[in-house]
Amino acid sequence: SLDVSSLTKQTGYTALDYGFVNTAATKSKITYIDGEQGILRYRGYPIEQLASSSTYLEVSWLLIYGELPTADQLAEFDEKIRRHTLLHEDLKRFFSALPHTAHPMSVISSALSALSTFYENGANPNDPEQVELTTIRLLAKLPIIAAYAHKKSLGQAFLYPDNSLNFVDNFLKLNFGTMAEPYEIDPVLSKALDRLLILHADHEQNASTSTVRLVGSTGANLYASISAGINALSGPLHGGANEAVLQMLGQIRDSGESVQRFVERVKNKEDGVKLMGFGHRVYKNYDPRAKIVKESADEVLQALGISDPLLDLAKELEQIALEDDYFKERKLYPNVDFYTGVIYKAMGFPTRMFTVLFAIGRLPGWVAHWREMNTDPQTKIGRPQQLYIGSGARDLPQR
Ligand code: ACO
Repeated sequence: SLDVSSLTKQTGYTALDYGFVNTAATKSKITYIDGEQGILRYRGYPIEQLASSSTYLEVSWLLIYGELPTADQLAEFDEKIRRHTLLHEDLKRFFSALPHTAHPMSVISSALSALSTFYENGANPNDPEQVELTTIRLLAKLPIIAAYAHKKSLGQAFLYPDNSLNFVDNFLKLNFGTMAEPYEIDPVLSKALDRLLILHADHEQNASTSTVRLVGSTGANLYASISAGINALSGPLHGGANEAVLQMLGQIRDSGESVQRFVERVKNKEDGVKLMGFGHRVYKNYDPRAKIVKESADEVLQALGISDPLLDLAKELEQIALEDDYFKERKLYPNVDFYTGVIYKAMGFPTRMFTVLFAIGRLPGWVAHWREMNTDPQTKIGRPQQLYIGSGARDLPQR
């Protein structure tokens, strides 16, 4: 075991590491990634096994508490989450202050910041009971807030959560149900969404999780830290890539440009255009999540009887890129975001909701990291160094 205590003292040496490519900011027991081998494990369990035979709630428990729950623990967790789905009526009014054109990622991050004002006494990071309650509140309420952000963009009335339904079915009903008609649960959609949430549930020290940790390291509460994480996730180089992929595919289709020509433009870095949904800081062989999502995309579209030309376009793009030296040399492969958008679209979600779905999936990972950090005696406030390259000392002109 490595004694890191000496490394937490200032040594007088500073390493310049843009993008933290070589710097570990913490130890963690939550998620293991081997980028060369394409391995991802939550608490030791392979992502493939979790995706095929676990559920999002079970995985949430696993990430947060470190072990698989017993049947009783899982039932109690599920029950507690169902009991905390309601939003205060005042928080519901908060949505009306925002324009219906607001991006749902901005809506949910603002709403989570606002949520802390309802539980000000309950957000103390040093009170384990309150941390427990806040964990449940966040897991219960983020999906409701997300569904309301969606409804708001459509100009439709908010539905009350139906707590007789399981987590995912309730969420789907709040998004696609209306006051006028009963909502029919489609088990294919529920299963597919649950699996996608599992695949997104954690990914060690990615940009948004590092943000949650950095904000949390100041002693900020869980609501504030998660809200910051959502903002970090929104960027197109991170979670926002799933939205950007669909936009890219739509643009290729609408422009009539051939896929080959588009790939040439990417390689020539024309106007900084990138192949969205490709490449990863850690995976240099393949992203194991992308493999599962691709299979799932085929299954879901087939089960729903949908044939989407954008899926065919995505496959053609992948094929061309994988055979091209530019992508091979740089070890660029599809990441988790490349095929998710096609599934979300088939489910009926508008493109702007895609990253919101990612945020719901990532929530248990963020919470697990925030809690791990707050119980680690070696945690210090995060404070990167810089190398100053500005002007030397100088005097203001005489005035
Ligand atoms: N398309 C074209 N070229 C790419 C791409 C891409 N998607 N990704 C990387 N490259 C090129 C870079 O231009 C660079 O080329 P160069 O050596 O000629 O300058 C080389 O590959 C290395 O790329 P870096 O930017 O150094 O890789 P980094 O690890 O910093 O970035 C990232 C990783 C941000 C994911 C990048 O691959 C990217 O922008 N991908 C597209 C956006 C995306 O899909 N993001 C989602 C990531 S997964 C997630 O957050 C859930």
